[in-house]
Amino acid sequence: MQFAGSHILSVTQFERADVETIFSVADRMEPYAHRRRVTKVLDGAILGSMFFEPSTRTRVSFGSAFNLLGGEVRETTGFENSAIAKGESLYDTARVLSGYSDVIAMRHPAAGSVAEFAAASRVPVINGGDGANEHPSQALLDLYTIKKELAGRGRGIDGLRIAMVGDLRYGRTVHSLCKLLCLFDRVQVVLVSPQELRMPGEIVEDLRAAGHEALESEALEASIAHVDIVYSTRIQEERFSSQQEADLYRGRFRLNQTIYTEHCEPNTVIMHPLPRDSRETARELDDDLNDNPNLAIFRQTDNGVLVRMALFALVLDVADEVDAHARDVNWYTAGRFG
Ligand code: CP
Repeated sequence: MQFAGSHILSVTQFERADVETIFSVADRMEPYAHRRRVTKVLDGAILGSMFFEPSTRTRVSFGSAFNLLGGEVRETTGFENSAIAKGESLYDTARVLSGYSDVIAMRHPAAGSVAEFAAASRVPVINGGDGANEHPSQALLDLYTIKKELAGRGRGIDGLRIAMVGDLRYGRTVHSLCKLLCLFDRVQVVLVSPQELRMPGEIVEDLRAAGHEALESEALEASIAHVDIVYSTRIQEERFSSQQEADLYRGRFRLNQTIYTEHCEPNTVIMHPLPRDSRETARELDDDLNDNPNLAIFRQTDNGVLVRMALFALVLDVADEVDAHARDVNWYTAGRFG
């Protein structure tokens, strides 16, 4: 695809070569993301950051990524702080804000709303999550993390064995990750969820049409026994019609160090898009895994900055100019990044 000037709305717009391009640019962002060098390649550019649902990682890492490329960020968070609360349409909001920004990152609770906004925008729009539909930058950072974790074991994404666990019905990160895996070869996916929270059938069919093995299960321990990656997810309680309904599923699948030791192969990588639900009634990924070196959740969040820098550099067509606008830094940066 041509990245320059494009919206990033769904992983289905990518070919495998596009994903490899993003990962290659992300690799080149490491000295900047890890604060060894600074670049001003986006000096004067403005990111419009519009998050109409709660977010920590996606919102802050999009903003950090833009700042690390030398640009500035203007934020709107929550409907209550936006004129949408006064009845303004997405069309009008997009027309207005795209006059104030050079690129926009947006999260919205309704599936398809970011695409609707993008259709009216005069600048590229990156989907930061639209309802239960997609979360493309998360899937890219997840796959980038998988690639890096497996590279240390002499493995690649082709031939990956992964178990996705939890709320596969409403979890947009697993929807996007499955669609992205369809670009690769010989993947085995075990989809572990309560019956009512199964992966949407069309996504399971997409995996099978790509030649992958896609098994569905309600048994955690047997499903995580022979995989490279366990990708745990939170019950997306904000998508349920009532708290009581969400409560039926919270805590159904819990991975802790004892279960990991007893059932996983040594060095199975543990991932989660975060936030994990650390309340006593949930704990899909227990805090007692925090010292497990195979827990990659904070490597995922660090990698998110690299991947989002790469997306901005490609969409704004400066990927080959980053180094020309750079200098070394002389403040202390050692030891923060693994
Ligand atoms: N993974 C993710 O989307 O996290 P936030 O909701 O904190 O952005």
